[in-house]
Amino acid sequence: MNPLNSHQTQEKKEQAFLVGIDLPSNNSLISMEDSLEELYLLATTAGLMVVGEATQKLSRPNPVTLIGSGKAEEVRLLLEDSEADVVIFDAELSPRHLRELEKLFGENINVVDRTALILDIFAQHAQTREGKLQVELAQYEYRLPRLTRAWTHLARQAGGGGGRSGGVGGVGLRGPGETQLEVDRREISRRISKLKSELEKVRAHRMRHRSQRTKSQIPVISLVGYTNAGKSTLLNTISSSDVLVADKLFATLDPTTRKVRLPGGNFALISDTVGFIQKLPTQLVAAFRATLEEISEANCLLHVLDCSHALVNEQWQSVQNTLEEINADHIPVITVLNKVDKIENKVELDTILAMFPDALPISALQKDGIDQLLSNIEIQLFESFEPVEVKLPYEEGKLTATFHQHGQIDFIEHGRKEVHIIGKLPLRYISLFSNFVIQQSRETEENET
Ligand code: GTP
Repeated sequence: MNPLNSHQTQEKKEQAFLVGIDLPSNNSLISMEDSLEELYLLATTAGLMVVGEATQKLSRPNPVTLIGSGKAEEVRLLLEDSEADVVIFDAELSPRHLRELEKLFGENINVVDRTALILDIFAQHAQTREGKLQVELAQYEYRLPRLTRAWTHLARQAGGGGGRSGGVGGVGLRGPGETQLEVDRREISRRISKLKSELEKVRAHRMRHRSQRTKSQIPVISLVGYTNAGKSTLLNTISSSDVLVADKLFATLDPTTRKVRLPGGNFALISDTVGFIQKLPTQLVAAFRATLEEISEANCLLHVLDCSHALVNEQWQSVQNTLEEINADHIPVITVLNKVDKIENKVELDTILAMFPDALPISALQKDGIDQLLSNIEIQLFESFEPVEVKLPYEEGKLTATFHQHGQIDFIEHGRKEVHIIGKLPLRYISLFSNFVIQQSRETEENET
C-alpha cells in the first residue's frame, strides 16, 4: 500500500481499518488485492488514515456478519489494537450485516461499506445544486433500510443540501452534537420525496439549457474515463480553462462544459463527467443517471485512459460496462492513452500501444499529442458520415431540408404522414434526428456481427 504522505500524518485523522473479501459472486474485474488498494485510495481521498487491513476468501457470504464468525472476532481484536474509529468493508453490506457487525464491534466503531464511502466522497465533492441534490438523495436512499445507531449520525451532513466541511462525517464519524439524532425513517422518507421534487425542477431547467445547446448545432463531446485518468487535466489543456485537477479519486463530480476551437475553425463543446470506478454503487448510477444521460446524448465520446496504471485494461473494461449500462455504448469513441510521459520504458509503451491500437498516446499534463487529438476530433465530428435511417413527419420539414443540405441520401420515399430516408449524416447532425431514427450505424452493427 502507498505510504501516507507527511501532511496527512501531521493532523489527527480518523483512523480506518479495511476489510477485503474475495467472494465468487463479486463479479469484480480486478483481484481482491487490487480492489483493496483502490479502497485504500478511496479512504485517503475521504480524509481517513488507514491503520490496518484484513482479508478473507469465502465461498459464500456469511448471512450474519458477511465474513466468517472467526474472522469477525479476529477483526474485532485488530480494531482494538489499531485504535481504529471506522471499519470499511470492500463490499456492500446488507442492513443485517451492518446491524450485526455494529453489535459485535461495539459503539466506538463505525461500520461502513464501499458504497457509503464513495457516497461520502461524492458528498464532499458535489459543487452544483443538482450534484448536491443527487448525492443527498442517494445517501438517504442508501441509508433508509440501514437505519441503525450509526446511521442516525448521518443526518447531519445530508440535511443542509450537501454543504459539508469535508472529512468523512458522511460515514458517521462526527459527534452526535452536530447531528440531528432524532431523524427517523419517516423523516428520511419525507426528505427523499422533497429531494426528488427539487431535483425534477433543477433537471427541467437543465433540459431547457440542453435543448438550446442542441439547437445551436455545436457538437458535444463527453469526456469519459476511470477516476483519476486525467479528464479534467485534458479539458484544461484543450480549452485553457481552469477546471479542478487533483490527484484524488472523484475530484470532478459535476459536468463542466467548455467550448473549444478545432484546428480547421470548427467549434465543439467538450464536457467533463464524473469519473467511473469498478463496482460503482448502484445507488450512484441511479442517482447520477440524469447526468450520465448527458453522455448518451453526446455526438462523440473521448475515453481517457491512464496508460501508466497497471490495471489500464480493467479500467477500460469497467468504463465500457458503465457505458453499456447507461446505453451510451453506441456512440463513436476516440480513445486516448493519457500520461504517456510516465512510461519511460519503450517496450512497456509498445505493449500498451499494441493493446489499444486505435488509441492516440498523449500527455495532457505536458501537452503532448494534443494537436493530433484535436484534428482527430474534428475529422470524427465534421468529416465522418454515419449511416442512418429516419422517418421524418411532414411537420419536421426543417429536418428534411437539413438532411438534403448536409447529408447523403441513398433512398427517399414520401409516405402519407412522413418522409422515409436512408442515407448518411455527418456525426454532428445525428443528435438532431434522434427522435426519428429507425436505425443508426447499421453498417457498424453489421461489421460487428
Ligand atoms: P476524477 O475527477 O477523479 O474523475 O479525475 P480526472 O480523470 O479528472 O483526473 P485529473 O485530471 O484530476 O488528474 C488526476 C491526476 O493525474 C492529477 O494529479 C493530474 O495532475 C495527473 N495527470 C493528468 N494527466 C497527466 C499526464 O498526462 N501525465 C502525468 N504525469 N500526470 C497526469
